[in-house]
Amino acid sequence: MSLNKPYLDVPGTTIFDADQSRKGYWLNQFCMSLMKADNRARFKQDEDAYLAEWPMTDEQKAAVRARDLNWMMATGGNIYFLSKLGATDGLSFQQMAGSMTGMTEQQYRDMMVRGGRHPEGNRYKGEGGDAQGPMSQSEAWKAWQAKAQNGLAASVQQAQTAANSIATMGARITASVYFSHVPAIGAAIDHGKTAEPYWAPMFQGFEFSKRWMKEHLPDVIFLVYNDHATNFDLSVIPTFAIGTAAEFEPADEGYGPRPVPRVKGHPRLASHIAQSVIQQDFDLTIVNQLKVDHGLTVPMNLMFGTPAEWPCAVIPFHVNVVQYPVPSGARCFALGQAIRRAIESYDEPLKVQIWGTGGMSHQLQGPRAGLINAEWDNRFLDRLIADPKELSAMPHIDYVREAGSEGIELVMWLIARGAMADVAGGAAPKVAHRFFHVPASNTAVGHLILENQA
Ligand code: DHB
Ligand code: FE
Repeated sequence: MSLNKPYLDVPGTTIFDADQSRKGYWLNQFCMSLMKADNRARFKQDEDAYLAEWPMTDEQKAAVRARDLNWMMATGGNIYFLSKLGATDGLSFQQMAGSMTGMTEQQYRDMMVRGGRHPEGNRYKGEGGDAQGPMSQSEAWKAWQAKAQNGLAASVQQAQTAANSIATMGARITASVYFSHVPAIGAAIDHGKTAEPYWAPMFQGFEFSKRWMKEHLPDVIFLVYNDHATNFDLSVIPTFAIGTAAEFEPADEGYGPRPVPRVKGHPRLASHIAQSVIQQDFDLTIVNQLKVDHGLTVPMNLMFGTPAEWPCAVIPFHVNVVQYPVPSGARCFALGQAIRRAIESYDEPLKVQIWGTGGMSHQLQGPRAGLINAEWDNRFLDRLIADPKELSAMPHIDYVREAGSEGIELVMWLIARGAMADVAGGAAPKVAHRFFHVPASNTAVGHLILENQA
């Protein structure tokens, strides 16, 4: 992966980034569990039994048993999480930090009393400072490495061969797809009502899309949607959140969980995008536990029907459009461009689609509920296709006045549109499909498929 990691050549230092976090997820979560007295007691009573409850790797468990903090860090641990294990053993932060330096406790303490370690010679690997030596290791870690040596050599060889063959091919965005995500559409599917006169014309508009999807199946869908007070309540309100987990369960929105498959994530690409996009100055919230609501599952049904398994991976990307202030259209459009750069810098030849969901005109509240503005919606589609930059300058208040209070969901379409090639100087996208229908429940249904030209 060609990520900007300028910290890799700082000696004796591991920066806890998205990749480390992915690797160390269960190790760190295990450590967090030790903040409860009951758990500490159970762990102390029978370490192996307690560790067996956690889906950590065998190596992480061995590192914990050996209480080797350098080893735990090498397998993805972060000191603030690991400190809960140290605290359980009665250690101070000074004892924990010192244990990683190869010094005795007294030597480390004396160094700190003398003013601490000097950065001179310790800024870059290969300088002559006192933090340049080999990392101190427990006997258990050395033994583990010796045993793993043969297997390791083979896997390095394998990884290098694979890396050479894909070195010139990165991930690319093949298309963007846009739709409304009304829960009643999901209910119509779940209860076998799609052929009823009310629903048939709407589902008709997605017949082409399902065929198109079979011919244009991507490896990963980057799915922009909003959580509707489902996973995120008022205790935490992230503006932008990326799902980096391996799996996401369908949420229970009060009617019971929808009978749809679990969503398979793509932790490696998601972590890569998180790292790249945050380095481009967008502050994403990284979410490893996320239940997905109708905002995500209904569009999946519209494109795939209801198979036993979804046929590709999905990276959920949540945008707050529930509590003001919500992000502006311009910021969403710029974010889409950052996401495109992130995806194109991923060194694996993945085909990625980006979907924008929500809208079109709808208002779910108050005496103005039921507002529909088909003319405005269709102009929105025209502008989204032909001049999204100009469209992105539209202020929130115009969405509210013209498309209803919940029509603000349409800003999410600008994230998907910003990720298309023409925005970065490439060819204009091909409009493979366009559909508009009123109503589905309280909402105007809009749908677009835009293909990037090869
Ligand atoms: C409706 C539409 C939505 O986008 C939503 O999130 C909830 C309900 C509706 O039209 O009923
Ligand atoms: Fe919605």
